[in-house]
Amino acid sequence: MERTLVLLKPDAVRRGLVGHVLSRFEAKGLGIVAMELRTITGDQADAHYAEHVERDFYPPLREFATSGPLVALVLEGDEAIAVVRALNGATDGRQAAPGTIRGDLSLSNRENLVHASDSAESAEREIALWFPDL
Ligand code: CMP
Repeated sequence: MERTLVLLKPDAVRRGLVGHVLSRFEAKGLGIVAMELRTITGDQADAHYAEHVERDFYPPLREFATSGPLVALVLEGDEAIAVVRALNGATDGRQAAPGTIRGDLSLSNRENLVHASDSAESAEREIALWFPDL
């Protein structure tokens, strides 16, 4: 069993897609270990996106990440990290394959509905950051 940190970003909440996206994860067989609606500060966005803070795309990403409530959750399942990334699809919703969450529901590489840990190391770091009690 593996765990991964997932964010349903502010666009997912604004667009009323939380239930839909969650049900895609649940239908796949992943279990919800923790889940919380949260509005994060700029400092919290910087901590989450530590590897991106120097990138050109980061200032608008920071603005977006803090623009309204998001849903943070931890999902669990066999190979959950890779499975969730496959369900999410490519970062840019315009290029993501049909059948994936971003491919079906996003037209943006910033407002791309979901975030998921990209490795075992980032899952460990991100779960500790978002859900220190786990
Ligand atoms: P996420 O999986 O949360 O990880 C980093 C995020 O940065 C990514 O999803 C996108 O929301 C955003 N992102 C990555 N590349 C770009 C880009 N070129 N332009 C704008 N946003 C980007």
